[in-house]
Amino acid sequence: MTRLHVISAATRPTSSGRPLAAWVGERARAHGGFEVTSVDLAEIALPFLDEPEYASSGVYTNPHTLEWSALVDSADAFVFVLPMYNGGFTAPFKNAIDFLYKEWGGKPVALFSYSAGPTGGAPAAEMLLPVLTRLGMLPTERRVAVPGINALIGPDGFQAPEGLAEELAGMLDEVAALASEPVSA
Ligand SMILES: Cc1cc2nc3c(=O)[nH]c(=O)nc-3n(C[C@H](O)[C@H](O)[C@H](O)COP(=O)(O)O)c2cc1C
Repeated sequence: MTRLHVISAATRPTSSGRPLAAWVGERARAHGGFEVTSVDLAEIALPFLDEPEYASSGVYTNPHTLEWSALVDSADAFVFVLPMYNGGFTAPFKNAIDFLYKEWGGKPVALFSYSAGPTGGAPAAEMLLPVLTRLGMLPTERRVAVPGINALIGPDGFQAPEGLAEELAGMLDEVAALASEPVSA
């Protein structure tokens, strides 16, 4: 079974990403074929990159890096639940990505973005793509963007607009297909 990590890439204590990522995790479990682990970047609480060696060396000295490495390494594929700040991806998430290298490589990744405004964070996902391909990740062609996030978070969590579950399911189908393809030499 594909081990899918759903990473909530936000760190604010009042993040809308948390209930949204919980919903994505539920849908991924219901999709079937995935062993889903929910990862909250706020709980991981990484400092700014503080390793003396390049991540590509795989030589880590700090316990927080070793733990983050083991967690990411244990995934076969990812969904990144990604907020948009000032038209781009967030600094804490880029920092978390930069901590590691080989742990990301060759793995499918689906981008599920959100924002307060009308773009749903699509520009942040677009901006992240070259970073992911530089790491040798395999981004899905489909991406999902959720606009107007603030109006969709209520006391019962995230209220999905009509059609969103189907959009996510399509993207997860692609993750499953990419994960089942043999890795090319
Ligand atoms: C620093 C910052 C910058 C933001 N910039 C934008 C923006 O450029 N466009 C937009 O639609 N929303 C923007 N927002 C609103 C966020 O998309 C919205 O608050 C979303 O919930 C943020 O994710 P979070 O709640 O997980 O932190 C910004 C929010 C923050 C905190």
